[in-house]
Amino acid sequence: MTDKQHLTTLLATVIADSIQDYAIFLLDAEGNILTWNKGAAAIQGYTADEVIGKPVSIFYTASDNQKGEPSRHLEEARLGGSQSSEGWRVRKDGARFWANSLLAAIYDDNRQLKGFVAITRTSEELRQLASHLQNVREEERAAMAREIHDELGQQLTGIKMDLSWISGKWKRPPEDPLQQKITGTLAMLDNTIRTVRRIATQLRPSVLDDLGLIAALEWQSQEFATRSGIDTHFQSTLPDLNFDARASIGLFRICQESLTNVARHSGAKNVWISLDRVGENLLLTILDDGRGLSRIVRTNTLGLLGMEERAMMMGGSLEIKNSPYGGVAVEATVPLATTIY
Ligand SMILES: Nc1ncnc2c1ncn2[C@@H]1O[C@H](COP(=O)(O)OP(=O)(O)O)[C@@H](O)[C@H]1O
Ligand SMILES: [Mg+2]
Repeated sequence: MTDKQHLTTLLATVIADSIQDYAIFLLDAEGNILTWNKGAAAIQGYTADEVIGKPVSIFYTASDNQKGEPSRHLEEARLGGSQSSEGWRVRKDGARFWANSLLAAIYDDNRQLKGFVAITRTSEELRQLASHLQNVREEERAAMAREIHDELGQQLTGIKMDLSWISGKWKRPPEDPLQQKITGTLAMLDNTIRTVRRIATQLRPSVLDDLGLIAALEWQSQEFATRSGIDTHFQSTLPDLNFDARASIGLFRICQESLTNVARHSGAKNVWISLDRVGENLLLTILDDGRGLSRIVRTNTLGLLGMEERAMMMGGSLEIKNSPYGGVAVEATVPLATTIY
């Protein structure tokens, strides 16, 4: 090694070690760990001795490993030069943390792959903030729904009762212009009351608080069928469980957004919604028989991102894919531990 090379290597080590907010390490071409910095030790919880020589897949969750995510990430970095991802990673003690990761391929002069540089940063604070904002939003919606329903709804009903009373006293033939105005205004009031109820229910379906998640999903299915004309089938093999309020609203909103997508994009005749227990998880599936995803949809459009976000807030995950039966399947998987008390 020349002096210059030696100095460069030394510099790289010093830099890597002085950065503690990032895990920075090298992988060989097969994805096995070659080096380890202080940041990596702090973030991932392993000492250098414990990880050097191990495959990078040890940092991924079991479900990501099952899906072959680690090799897919390496492959994408190999082909494209770099790959960035966001997702759950696992610490030595088994705890999960939310991470932004970058994998950059290193090639030699002959374009042969030598290995990868991996840089990982936790975005726990951002995640918590996003999750907090989402909760605040739901609480505000609930408060607004109550206000609209109780105050505005009552006042409109009051006006309607007064006008009905006037109409009763007035007693003119139907063709009398003033009588026609009163009848017209009463009809308009009925409409307004219905609209107010609908807005309040969209903001916060009271059935969710009153009857629980399963009844609320059932109610949502019926509502959707009536409004969209799409045959909507709901089934659940679950017994009545005590769902956590935040988990209930999360799953309810995922279903709501999925159904909106079915109505908007799928052209489906049928949609099947199911909520079941699979091992230690709850699985919510929304499956349609429409045209399916026209192209590979990356989960960066707002609707899909929102659903994914909701699932992640519950420590779970969300998948959207073309189903083997045609149409789109949205699958939200959340650990029972975070949804039931
Ligand atoms: N059930 C579905 N059937 C067909 N395409 C769908 C379905 N759901 C989502 N998509 C596709 O995925 C895209 C992203 O969905 P989304 O993030 O909710 O955005 P938006 O509904 O605002 O277009 C949609 O624009 C559509 O192309
Ligand atoms: Mg949408």
